[in-house]
Amino acid sequence: MPALPLLLLSLLLLVAAPAIAKDVINFCKCTCGQNSTIIELTRSALTHLPHASEPIDTDTLAPNVCMNCTRLLCGIAEPALCDGAAVDDDIAPLCFQRDSLQDELIVSGFLLLVIGLLAWTVLRSHVKPVVDRLWTRYGYTNVAQDSPN
Ligand SMILES: *[C@@H]1O[C@H](CO)[C@@H](O)[C@H](O)[C@H]1NC(C)=O
Ligand SMILES: *[C@@H]1O[C@H](CO)[C@@H](O)[C@H](O)[C@H]1NC(C)=O
Repeated sequence: MPALPLLLLSLLLLVAAPAIAKDVINFCKCTCGQNSTIIELTRSALTHLPHASEPIDTDTLAPNVCMNCTRLLCGIAEPALCDGAAVDDDIAPLCFQRDSLQDELIVSGFLLLVIGLLAWTVLRSHVKPVVDRLWTRYGYTNVAQDSPN
């Protein structure tokens, strides 16, 4: 493959990569006095909460799942959250986002591949003429000189 198209293609992929696998996960941080807990706002995590006082119906989750990061949810997910806290302490829910680890790995792997391709392209275009020259000088030429006419 010629170097320039490959280079352009690689650059294009480099620019596009973060957009391809962008998928954020929402988390709900519930704080009560000194205690806090972080709940992953995904269906599978919400159905496997270790301390939940009652099952959470993930079919009713709001399209913007941060809407479900509420005192109610915190109270169900972690019933003992306010145990030992001062009487006037209340649950404070806070929604935040993070890229999923899996996506980050995919993007990183993808970038490595692209960078590898770029490096290979650049190296090849620089190394190949040198190798060819050496080959011509020490390999091919000697054979040509030694061979009888
Ligand atoms: C999520 O939020 C929506 C809208 O506020 C509500 O109707 C639904 O019951 C909530 N679901 C859960 C599991 O909290
Ligand atoms: C909250 O903290 C109290 C002690 O301050 C503790 O007894 C309780 O188990 C904690 N709850 C959680 C959910 O960590």
